[in-house]
Amino acid sequence: MLNILVTGASKGIGKNIAEELKNMGNLYVTGRNEEALKSIGAKDYCIADLSKNPEVLGDFIQKNSINILINNAGEYIYGGIETMTYQQIENLHNTNLISPIYLISKAVPYMKEKRFGRIINIGSISGVMGEANASLYSSSKAGLLGLTKALALELAEFNITVNTINPGWVDTELGNDSIEQSEFSKEEIIECIPQRRFVQPKEISKLIRYLISEDAKGITGQGINICAGLSVGI
Ligand SMILES: NC(=O)c1ccc[n+]([C@@H]2O[C@H](COP(=O)([O-])OP(=O)(O)OC[C@H]3O[C@@H](n4cnc5c(N)ncnc54)[C@H](OP(=O)(O)O)[C@@H]3O)[C@@H](O)[C@H]2O)c1
Repeated sequence: MLNILVTGASKGIGKNIAEELKNMGNLYVTGRNEEALKSIGAKDYCIADLSKNPEVLGDFIQKNSINILINNAGEYIYGGIETMTYQQIENLHNTNLISPIYLISKAVPYMKEKRFGRIINIGSISGVMGEANASLYSSSKAGLLGLTKALALELAEFNITVNTINPGWVDTELGNDSIEQSEFSKEEIIECIPQRRFVQPKEISKLIRYLISEDAKGITGQGINICAGLSVGI
């Protein structure tokens, strides 16, 4: 039986992932917005702020024997490095990198015992290429790629795969907010994307569905870009 946990499932990409995976097994969701999480109709939900108290979610993972972990929750912050406070640096990395590491550490014992597991992180093309004035975001997402490679090696013999999906611009609140914070308009950004379009959340959810399947058991340690061509060059 698949016991699936999707973090950041209250909106955007995570909500779409939760809807896509709902019929694949026992679905568990987490985020901060209780009303939004309830509306998904998952088997259970857990309220947790990953920038402050991921421990409650660690317990939830163990209680529900999670064997499919989708680390999707993430935050973005725009601004020059000299404007960032220690608190902002810490919070951003807690949510985007440290909590995923911690949640994986809680899920892996059950996965190892059953010799099966799928860990999928949502990174960003900003962690592959770098994004000016988004250095905290880029560093947190780049960290996921190192984590993915190391864990894929460590867990390979247990039939546990670990991968990170790196989206380009996606049409969500985070995607649109990050444009608003930047000096560029949406039209200017679309002009720089080879396919001249934003990625849709569904494209990410469908890839996750595949990565969970038996057919994808050979895919591990990979960073997979879904970026409408953004990472290839200009
Ligand atoms: N949109 C893009 O263009 C884009 C591009 C590349 C990568 N990504 C990545 O894709 C993932 C999803 O992004 P999205 O576009 O769907 O963003 P979104 O619409 O803003 O949704 C973010 C989700 O993460 C949760 N979250 C954020 N901070 C949290 C915290 N401190 N504790 C617990 N949950 C928290 C939110 O939960 P609550 O609302 O319940 O607090 C929400 O469910 C992120 O990792 C993001 O970095 C997005």
